Amino acid sequence: SKRYTITLLPGDGIGPEVISVAKNVLELAGSLEGIEFLFKDMPVGGAALDLTGIPLPEETLSIAKQSDAVLLGAIGGYKWDNNEKHLKPETGLLQLREGLKVFANLRPASVLPQLVDASTLKKEIAEGVDLMVVRELTGGIYFGKPRGFSTNENGEEIGFNTEVYASYEIDRIARIAFESAQKRRGKLCSVDKANVLEASMLWRRRVMAIASEYPDVELSHMYVDNAAMQLVRNPKQFDTIVTNNIFGDILSDEASMITGSIGMLPSASLGESGPGLFEPIHGSAPDIAGQDKANPLATVLSAAMLLRYGLGEEEAAQRIETAVLDALNRGFRTGDIYSAGNVCTFLVNFFIYILLPCYY
Ligand code: NAD
Ligand code: IPM
Ligand code: MN
Repeated sequence: SKRYTITLLPGDGIGPEVISVAKNVLELAGSLEGIEFLFKDMPVGGAALDLTGIPLPEETLSIAKQSDAVLLGAIGGYKWDNNEKHLKPETGLLQLREGLKVFANLRPASVLPQLVDASTLKKEIAEGVDLMVVRELTGGIYFGKPRGFSTNENGEEIGFNTEVYASYEIDRIARIAFESAQKRRGKLCSVDKANVLEASMLWRRRVMAIASEYPDVELSHMYVDNAAMQLVRNPKQFDTIVTNNIFGDILSDEASMITGSIGMLPSASLGESGPGLFEPIHGSAPDIAGQDKANPLATVLSAAMLLRYGLGEEEAAQRIETAVLDALNRGFRTGDIYSAGNVCTFLVNFFIYILLPCYY
């Protein structure tokens, strides 16, 4: 039978809760498809800070690099919010993305028929939405230099960051996005702020240049402020969206609400080679942590993306996705997508577990 090593990074808040569900689901889907997983649990974020004093221990990164794929829960929490930059949980996550060189972050957002009523948008606007945000993940203002704190000419404290993109970074994320659009409905919308920012002017120029390699994809451009508006005005106009690190972060949270909940959206972060990093788009949700309220489906669906994009195990991926849909069909859902009642994380886990073996 096939064997894979998976690094599990539960992290903080609801991270451990959703990872334990996804681990069960992976194990079962694997056993049904003749796949064996060796799981390695490693600390990251606040959990790593408490244990080792730093948010991404060397050992965590090296184990992650040696594994076939990495599944992360979430990091962060009130306890560490006032830490210095290099001692923040979030810094550990950014170091992990950088260390694994996973520059392409795929964030699909689709409105499942079962959850149309969970959307905050009107039914006729939300139903049928199926889009993919391709977010650049290892560049832009998150990593640009110079950055830091200083004082200005009035002796006042300033904080500053730099939005910077090299053409190779734009070219490679554009190619991923064009290829993703080719496999979908052939439409790509590049989102930028090219009316104001030099980094965006270069972004738009390079995306237009790369477009000549993909004549079958229909390319359009949109400013990010308009895109934020269009996403709630008429989200069905979008197929694939490609954008920089920070705009992709914001727009994917916005897109999640069209689908009903941020607790539903998975993601895959891929590089040129080496293991992919798979994580829900949501955070550690400290407001509901430890209460058995977290929606584990974003992480379960991230595990399905891990199987598909990380390991090429399409059947096992589909088995998980089918079980998720069936659990929803049968009404098992956490409070974030069903305000009239409350099914706990454990029960969702339980039902997916029962349903998984039913599909081929
Ligand atoms: P968040 O995504 O953690 O939570 C936003 C809201 O959505 C909260 O009300 C939360 O309860 C709810 N929510 C999120 N995931 C849910 C789920 N699976 N089921 C049900 N409800 C869910 O964002 P935030 O509150 O802005 O950030 C909290 C912490 O998480 C911060 O420390 C932040 O830096 C961190 N964060 C981490 C990641 C990550 O690990 N990738 C992503 C975003 C935020
Ligand atoms: C995300 C998060 C992270 C980001 C933070 C926690 C560093 O918001 O994964 O979307 O901004 O990328
Ligand atoms: Mn985010």
